[in-house]
Amino acid sequence: GGRPAPRHFLELMDHDAATLRRMLDLGVQAKRGQVEGKPLAGKTVALIFEKPSTRTRVSFEVGIRQLGGDAIVLSSKDMQLGRGETPADTARVLSRYVDAIMLRTDNVAKIRELAEHATIPVINGLTDVSHPCQLMADLMTFEEHRGPIAGQVVAWTGDGNNVAQSFIQAAARFDFTLRLATPPELAPPAQLVDWARREGARIELTADPHAAVAGARCVVTDTWVSMSDEKGDAQISRHNLLAPYQLNAALLKGAAPDAIVMHCLPAHRGEEITDEVMDGPQSVVFDEAENRLHAQKGVLLWALGAA
Ligand code: CP
Ligand code: NVA
Repeated sequence: GGRPAPRHFLELMDHDAATLRRMLDLGVQAKRGQVEGKPLAGKTVALIFEKPSTRTRVSFEVGIRQLGGDAIVLSSKDMQLGRGETPADTARVLSRYVDAIMLRTDNVAKIRELAEHATIPVINGLTDVSHPCQLMADLMTFEEHRGPIAGQVVAWTGDGNNVAQSFIQAAARFDFTLRLATPPELAPPAQLVDWARREGARIELTADPHAAVAGARCVVTDTWVSMSDEKGDAQISRHNLLAPYQLNAALLKGAAPDAIVMHCLPAHRGEEITDEVMDGPQSVVFDEAENRLHAQKGVLLWALGAA
């Protein structure tokens, strides 16, 4: 007996390729105006932020409204969650009021606890180790510009951070080759790489950004200091370690001539990416930002069983 498990969207690895493709297709349909009516009418989604956000906050709030639903934006600072109420109890309470929860947190354990105790879908809006909504937008963006991503080569240069770790999960599910160039100190977790390889993913790790980028169809980077790295004084050493991984014109020259450039934003211009590349003809970073809106509609429609 019991009710069916809610459709959480916590990590790409939790879902098979067909399910992720279904969400992506729904997002594309939403972008094309092919989603009829107000499929989220009568539904309320709580958007909880423990960390700042521009894209995630606005794209979820606007996307939910456009689908006919209501969004409540909450800062954990203003919630009892921020002064010690457990994620489990928060989940039990919010499950009585709203139809889904999106959480951005600096500790993945919190979203896992929230999901375990929620009777409604929980969506990951970024953790210290993952950013699956970003990847759905990135996959959509690649395919819009360059066609099916299966069999393509994607290169990452920089920190082996949360976005990089979701790229690894995406490579396992969408069948593209992923080459990651990171300083050895900032390489993605070996356990995750091992998992992806067991799933059949082609993941290549190197310390040399030129080797990673060579011939790639897409080059991606991200900030040198993520929100979960802001505590402590490790930032100077991160800058020193990561300077050779800057995505600049010289590095991009080694990629395929028609390579596109992605960055989840916010960018630190002059650090991980130069103005020349970010504003250059190969950059699709603002299409990528726009696609957060469309891709998340696909996730929401799937999670709420509305399509
Ligand atoms: N890319 C992204 O998640 O941006 P925000 O931090 O502005 O939400
Ligand atoms: N890696 C970045 C992504 C921001 C959207 C961070 O976690 O701060």
